[in-house]
Amino acid sequence: MSGLIVTDLKKTFSGQNQDLEILKGISFSMEGNEKGGSNIAVLGPSGSGKSTLLHIIGTLDCPTSGKLQLDGQDPFDLDEKGLAAFRNQNIGFVFQEHHLLPQLSVLENVLLPTLANGKSSANEIDRAKYLIERIGLAERIRHRPAELSGGERQRVAIARAMIFQPRIILADEPTGSLDQKNSDRVGEMLLEMQQAEKAMLITVTHSVELANRFARKLHFVDGLVTESDLDGVDQQERIES
Ligand SMILES: Nc1ncnc2c1ncn2[C@@H]1O[C@H](COP(=O)(O)OP(=O)(O)OP(=O)(O)O)[C@@H](O)[C@H]1O
Ligand SMILES: [Mg+2]
Repeated sequence: MSGLIVTDLKKTFSGQNQDLEILKGISFSMEGNEKGGSNIAVLGPSGSGKSTLLHIIGTLDCPTSGKLQLDGQDPFDLDEKGLAAFRNQNIGFVFQEHHLLPQLSVLENVLLPTLANGKSSANEIDRAKYLIERIGLAERIRHRPAELSGGERQRVAIARAMIFQPRIILADEPTGSLDQKNSDRVGEMLLEMQQAEKAMLITVTHSVELANRFARKLHFVDGLVTESDLDGVDQQERIES
């Protein structure tokens, strides 16, 4: 099947005196070939395991048990080299902090993942320029991160995550450090990119407002996820405000 299937995913960390079972059997799936791709927001209290889940889906950490499949492939069946290649080709990460390199320009930062292979190809440079235009920063292509606003830096981080046309974009509180206006713009940008590229998008957020723009919402409760519909609450808030 095309898409992401997460089956009974568990993750236990060892604590001081006892093991901490953070993920207690997470299961959900996402279609990868829907028109326009698909998107999910993940909500839940601090410490509930949202980042842990995102790290496992991004293959940065492995589960204690359970299964992960992306387009029919379980990445944890691959050897270390295969796994690194899989991650590079299929997964785009956006974090709360932009992690741009201060000495590089916008264009160079977006091209950074391509430098692992030595030199960026002409196609990669074209793609980077296209993405920078899409995020609305064509005029800023030679600027360094210090010359950009927080929201602009985060948009560059989104463009960088998209350079290899990932199948899935994983964003961990991408608007967590931004004010409302920039936060709205970055949220829009992620959803626009996801749809334009027909990718899948999973975004962890504490913002109910941002989550309500997503097609689906997963809520963490006690190590498990439930799919919830918060739209009713949000509409009520909009009527009142
Ligand atoms: N490598 C690790 N070793 C031990 N415990 C860990 C490790 N990584 C995470 N944890 C613990 O797992 C729990 C879940 O952490 P996680 O970062 O996934 O939470 P979160 O839902 O993303 O929280 P927040 O909203 O604050 O970002 C926390 O109690 C954390 O201390
Ligand atoms: Mg987190």
